[in-house]
Amino acid sequence: MKEQPLYIGGQEVMTEKTVPVYNKETNETIAEIAVAGEAECRAAVDAAEKAFREVKLSAYERYEIILKAANLMRERTEEFAAALSAEAGKPLRDARGEIGRAYQTLILSAEEAKRLKGETIPLAGAPGCQNKLAFTIRQPLGVVCAITPFNFPVNLAAHKIGPALAAGNTVIYKPASATPLTAALLCDVFREAGLPAGCLNLLTGPGALVGNYLTKDARIRMFSFTGSVPVGKSLQEAAGFRRVALELGSNSANVVHEDVKDVKKVAELCAKYAFLNAGQVCISCQRVYVSRSIYQEFCNYAVAFAKTFKGGKLSDDTTCLGPMIAEKEAIRIEGWVKDAVAAGAKVLTGGHRHGSFYEPTILTNVTPDMDVVKNETFAPVFSIIPYDTIEEAIAGVNNSRYGLQAGVFTTSLYIAHYAAEHIEAGGVVINDGSSFRMDNMPYGGVKDSGMGKEGPEYAIRELTEEKTIIMNFD
Ligand code: SIN
Repeated sequence: MKEQPLYIGGQEVMTEKTVPVYNKETNETIAEIAVAGEAECRAAVDAAEKAFREVKLSAYERYEIILKAANLMRERTEEFAAALSAEAGKPLRDARGEIGRAYQTLILSAEEAKRLKGETIPLAGAPGCQNKLAFTIRQPLGVVCAITPFNFPVNLAAHKIGPALAAGNTVIYKPASATPLTAALLCDVFREAGLPAGCLNLLTGPGALVGNYLTKDARIRMFSFTGSVPVGKSLQEAAGFRRVALELGSNSANVVHEDVKDVKKVAELCAKYAFLNAGQVCISCQRVYVSRSIYQEFCNYAVAFAKTFKGGKLSDDTTCLGPMIAEKEAIRIEGWVKDAVAAGAKVLTGGHRHGSFYEPTILTNVTPDMDVVKNETFAPVFSIIPYDTIEEAIAGVNNSRYGLQAGVFTTSLYIAHYAAEHIEAGGVVINDGSSFRMDNMPYGGVKDSGMGKEGPEYAIRELTEEKTIIMNFD
């Protein structure tokens, strides 16, 4: 049985206590991972703090190391993808896609190392300041903690670790307990790329680690977290005056207006965006508001598409749907759908669970108070809701405690602009779905979806301190 150690100060550290990691397709134990306790957490922060003080890599050196790590990851795509598919239950084809994205995210991060810049402040514009010059520089914060989820464990880790290292910080990396194997591979490519000991430290084990120890260590200057709302809120409370970046998911909405050119194409795209990664995507298409005049046609096309979205062996190139991360999650969504049906919802297709697989499911006749509508399903389930006016559709979209991204399909410039202006979300995608994300764009939500932006160029602003330097020549 493979044992997966922690990585602290450049050393692999095995602990007595371990927990199993399962292959989500076969339920076999594929590794025993080390469980960090308080001593290991303290040692990791010691190492990160020492590295921050002693290792002073230039921006160019950081660029070279991150670039090299990206290239090593790309060379080892098959190894990363196999581990990712097994531990996250992702179809292998999608796992390869995620590694391709993570490669790009690291390249973008490397480039940001060279772009860290400040600005000149025109002090001479203030009375009596003609002999003064002021400018800003961006400096790293110190030790930052990256806490990553199971759904895109490699790319979302790259989004946190890449910019943090590019800025000159050192990192404590706490991956989701379901997906620690790709985390170890990521540390491995950084080590091989020449990242000095202590700059990246891996702590694995249950999430309570973070709550119980890491938040109490004042040497950690920032927490960057992707995960649930309750954990995000408690992290923010515990962080006090320290920075937090929180990406806490959503029940993302899409609006399909009657003027779209190709209803079939849009219905298939929305359904695909609802089912990809078994719906375990923070911007998954969960609610679709459709003009009443095209509602029936839209439903028919979406159902036909759902029937083609097949499960199967994860290594098979034709497999679209994998299992959910754990059977208890499939049981949870099964319960939500049953509750919705008991309250009057109609299942157009799907609605059954097979172990930890949940069928691609489409619901109608839903109401805003149902769990499947108001909470984040994080499952391959979406609802289609008819509307009569665009104002009514946008009110439906905004009737949510979340606001990460939304999609709007229309050929009307007026409606596109109206929707973009009025939808309460971190991003509005016109003529593509809520799930659209390119790794160089700003990404982050409003309301309970969190705060702060990802995308290396934007994340690095939050991972640095802007210092003002004033020179007096009087
Ligand atoms: C997420 O689920 O937060 C990330 C989605 C993505 O990167 O595509």
